Amino acid sequence: MNKMELKFSATLENEALARIAISSFIAPLNPSLEDISEIKTMVSEAVSNAIIHGYGFDMSRDVILRCELEKRTLTIIVIDYGKGIENLEEAKRPHYSSRPDLERAGMGLTIMETLADDFEIRSVYGMGSKVIIKKNIALKGEYVS
Ligand SMILES: Nc1ncnc2c1ncn2[C@@H]1O[C@H](COP(=O)(O)OP(=O)(O)O)[C@@H](O)[C@H]1O
Ligand SMILES: [Mg+2]
Repeated sequence: MNKMELKFSATLENEALARIAISSFIAPLNPSLEDISEIKTMVSEAVSNAIIHGYGFDMSRDVILRCELEKRTLTIIVIDYGKGIENLEEAKRPHYSSRPDLERAGMGLTIMETLADDFEIRSVYGMGSKVIIKKNIALKGEYVS
């Protein structure tokens, strides 16, 4: 198993860092552009949620991105120790956003659930949230759908 962990300040400036880190981490597997793009999208959604909703843009707080690679199965874990989610069912509903004022589309969790081979979100209100994404990285040229 190959693994890496990245801890960074809760600012949207670091969203690009998280995207590049995950791309570099999976690069040795020679992934398809489609897989790279989907994986970057999921990381962006999870990391932006931690920054915006978990920490309310409080840059003094840390977001953790943990990645594990077992053969071609990638596990991405994004952790924040922020606000947490009071009602997970409501949060997961397509188009639901607690911050429509920020023009959030409320589709982040739905997108992650759709793109991932396995998706889980755990949260304790007042304690923080953890997103666990699994994605099988196809061999190039391999038909997946
Ligand atoms: N890490 C998190 N911490 C606290 N709340 C979260 C977190 N991730 C998601 N949420 C809650 O779930 C809702 C839905 O998230 P999402 O589908 O990404 O939509 P959006 O980010 O556009 O609001 C958010 O509006 C927020 O209330
Ligand atoms: Mg979101």
